[in-house]
Amino acid sequence: MAKYLVTGVAGFIGRSIAAELLRRGSAVRGIDNFITGKRENLAGLEGMEFLKGDLADPSVCASACDGVEIVFHEAALASVPRSVADPVATNVNCVDATLNLLVASRAAGVRRVIYAGSSSIYGDSPTLPKREQMLPNPISPYAVAKLAGEQYMRSFTRVYGLETVTLRYFNVFGPYQDPTSHYSGVLAIFCRKMLAGEQPTIYGDGEQSRDFTYIDNVVNANLLAAVAPAHRVAGHAMNVATGSRITLNETFTILRELTGYRGEAAYAPPREGDIRDSLADIGLAGELLGYQPHVDFREGLRRTVEWYRGHRDGG
Ligand code: UD1
Repeated sequence: MAKYLVTGVAGFIGRSIAAELLRRGSAVRGIDNFITGKRENLAGLEGMEFLKGDLADPSVCASACDGVEIVFHEAALASVPRSVADPVATNVNCVDATLNLLVASRAAGVRRVIYAGSSSIYGDSPTLPKREQMLPNPISPYAVAKLAGEQYMRSFTRVYGLETVTLRYFNVFGPYQDPTSHYSGVLAIFCRKMLAGEQPTIYGDGEQSRDFTYIDNVVNANLLAAVAPAHRVAGHAMNVATGSRITLNETFTILRELTGYRGEAAYAPPREGDIRDSLADIGLAGELLGYQPHVDFREGLRRTVEWYRGHRDGG
């Protein structure tokens, strides 16, 4: 019987968490509906029990949670512009799915749910770095949905005693991230394009900045959140990031070195719903989980470029 459930396991964060759990010899169940997850991402996870299903269906959630002790809830329709184009789909796949999963977790006697929160909930307040006690200020429907999920987590701890932990991810990147959709994360898109000798487009002046976080740091934070004592972490939300930021223009320059791309970037108008700067204070995750980012931005980007180099078809 699986001890761990990973939702969104065919997405790049879910797949990376499942791979590390399997590597440590744990029994893992994974679920995905393949709206954005890719079947190819399940390669290497053969030891896992896999369920194809949609968390919007409560009976699917019940089967997924059966016998499980700890849930890593990574499933979402992750993308600010996708939510601007279709807010209802984002709500169904982020909010309804999360509530169904919590109800099923409680019914199945799951001990802890670790939730993929998002830095987008901070919005565009100019104060940096972002600290957890700041008032959320979501702009996009995606940010609203991610915040609603977080609030449900907290509520289920307070009302039902289910242990929940929210990890607010800041712009995660790394191997297995889908580079093929225009809703993809910027680094995945840039790696794919620049390795193929295609010109990337920077929206705005390129001086916007992000706290880009390499996937291994996020996996590590999740595993720490699974073992942290309940009295410290249950009902809490904390940033998971590196605590440093870099502009898109600087990133483009580093990627030119790493990929060998010799052209310039194209510039286009800023994207709707975008925020200007993002930077995390990671002190709370350090205090509550003992979290420290072990892989810095440059090394993470180097590993990511190498991975895309070996997976030119986009998978
Ligand atoms: C946001 C959230 C992040 C969330 C992610 C889900 C913030 C700060 N971050 O990331 O927590 O996990 O959505 O998708 O709200 N860009 C280009 N060219 C491209 C693609 C993007 O210039 O081809 C620009 C965007 O306009 C943006 C930046 O790159 O300024 C980052 O975009 P993206 O990777 O989509 O992530 P966020 O929207 O920052």
